[in-house]
Amino acid sequence: MKGSISDIFPFMNTNMKTEDKYFLRALKGERLKRPPFWLMRQAGRYLPEYRDLRKKSKNFLHFCYSPDLAVEATLQPLRRYGFDAAILFSDILVVPDALGQNVDFREGEGPHLEPVRSLKDLSKLSLDGFHDHLQPVYETVGRLSAEIPKQTTLIGFAGAPWTVATYMVEGKGSKDYPQARTWAYADPQGFGKLIDLLVEATAAYLIKQVEHGAEVIQLFDTWAGVLSESQFQRWVIEPTSEIVKRLNAACPGVPVIGFPRGAGVMYRDFILKTGVDGVSLDNSVPVSWAAEHLQPLCTVQGNLDNMALIAGGVAMEREIHAIVEGLADGSHIFNLGHGILPHTPPENVDRLAKIIHSCGS
Ligand code: CP3
Repeated sequence: MKGSISDIFPFMNTNMKTEDKYFLRALKGERLKRPPFWLMRQAGRYLPEYRDLRKKSKNFLHFCYSPDLAVEATLQPLRRYGFDAAILFSDILVVPDALGQNVDFREGEGPHLEPVRSLKDLSKLSLDGFHDHLQPVYETVGRLSAEIPKQTTLIGFAGAPWTVATYMVEGKGSKDYPQARTWAYADPQGFGKLIDLLVEATAAYLIKQVEHGAEVIQLFDTWAGVLSESQFQRWVIEPTSEIVKRLNAACPGVPVIGFPRGAGVMYRDFILKTGVDGVSLDNSVPVSWAAEHLQPLCTVQGNLDNMALIAGGVAMEREIHAIVEGLADGSHIFNLGHGILPHTPPENVDRLAKIIHSCGS
């Protein structure tokens, strides 16, 4: 490590008190001069230093369970861009892994899991040893809480039950999740048992993250948008409400951001029924609609198209300004509409960071 802490984190403010943290103020509903910002998947393959670090572990899950590597991966984008929040470096699939399902990330192919498609398959999973398995993640959270700059907020996360279930049932990523959706219609009781197990595991996992220092929780429901209205109510809204209820009871005052990606007009119902403090918008949500219908209900986060970030230049700048100005009358956290992609030029992220830092000045 080189020099003093402010050399390492050039955006550091050493006098910051927790209650003054910019990011938390936005989540409490304040309207701020410039929006706080971070990017989903801000740590990852678009950064050359991440690609170098990643070589230290062949196996991606092993990387996630190595606190030295996971702490370093989390800190890398903060040093470059001065984001207002750090997100724990891990993955949503550590939960099925810790429940005893076989999870494997193959180079260039994404995740592979031994599919769970019946009550018999489900009976092989259990919460025994769950927290022991995830101990390295809790250690990473604890170390980050001590190591990130004082003005930066630490976000813990998990996948929401529906999205994690899609991977558990299909055994891999898919476009439309036919096995999971069919099981959910044909045998809602059986599929409901899988969702109940995930509610139990996810709430316990997130509460532990908070106990180790996470200050905000984000729930990623990446595949919420493939569901019909009735299924969205049953498999997105109901389990999310239960997790929010348990988090609020165990960790009062810790805000929760929901990301029901692709929910469209159901974003409104999602906010009203789950009790989240913030909602992350995918890039298909019109900014003017969000300002009118969602922002009065909670803080909104989003929603730059990650293709605009890849394209850069004036097109990107125009999109950034339209979002910042369109959401300026309420509380807003600037982010992408979905995780940053591996071929994103880091210099475009730098330009974005400079534009956001100069907002309101
Ligand atoms: O910086 C951060 O945001 C924290 C890290 C993070 C990762 N995954 C690291 C990762 C977070 C928050 C996630 C969430 C995640 N993981 C989601 C929900 C959000 C989203 O992007 O939709 C989902 C669906 C997953 C599951 C997952 N993990 C897939 C489908 C893949 C393979 C596809 C891909 O992008 O390669 C992963 C692997 C993964 N998770 C990588 C990273 C940095 C790439 C693996 C590597 O570096 O070798």
